[in-house]
Amino acid sequence: QRSKTFGMIKPDCYNNIGKIIDIIYSKGLRISNLKMVRMTLTNARQFYAEHTGKPFFEDLTNFMSSDVVVGMELVAENAVPKWRELMGPTNPIAAKTDAPNTLRAIFGTQGTHNAVHGSDSATSANRELNFFFNLPNSPAVLNNC
Ligand code: CMP
Repeated sequence: QRSKTFGMIKPDCYNNIGKIIDIIYSKGLRISNLKMVRMTLTNARQFYAEHTGKPFFEDLTNFMSSDVVVGMELVAENAVPKWRELMGPTNPIAAKTDAPNTLRAIFGTQGTHNAVHGSDSATSANRELNFFFNLPNSPAVLNNC
């Protein structure tokens, strides 16, 4: 049974969109919707509301609103765990030794700057897909290309 998840390429990594899309298709995931958008700080705080108050929350939400992100509706069998496996561990430094073939190992640099996001459950995927694909369009500021 195929299912959906929400994947996002973060502002440190949208210049690698081509490579990431190649890897997504090569691993058997498919993209059924895709959008580049710049989140406001308010958008980012709402998107990551479950992390409110954590030590990395301000850094995370400032970073996520610093430039555009690319959000993707991903389809596969067991899409949520499949995409999380392809992303690898949250910390890219750990990923480089523990899971070197993952997106965070390849493209991530540090805790918050970990290249990609993925929903942690089907419920989160629904919420995040609705949230992201209803955001208004906005242009890149080309900080990172
Ligand atoms: P993401 O999958 O987008 O979900 C929450 C994000 O918070 C996570 O990726 C990281 O970017 C960030 N994050 C989670 N834990 C930490 C941490 N311990 N230190 C710094 N950033 C973190």
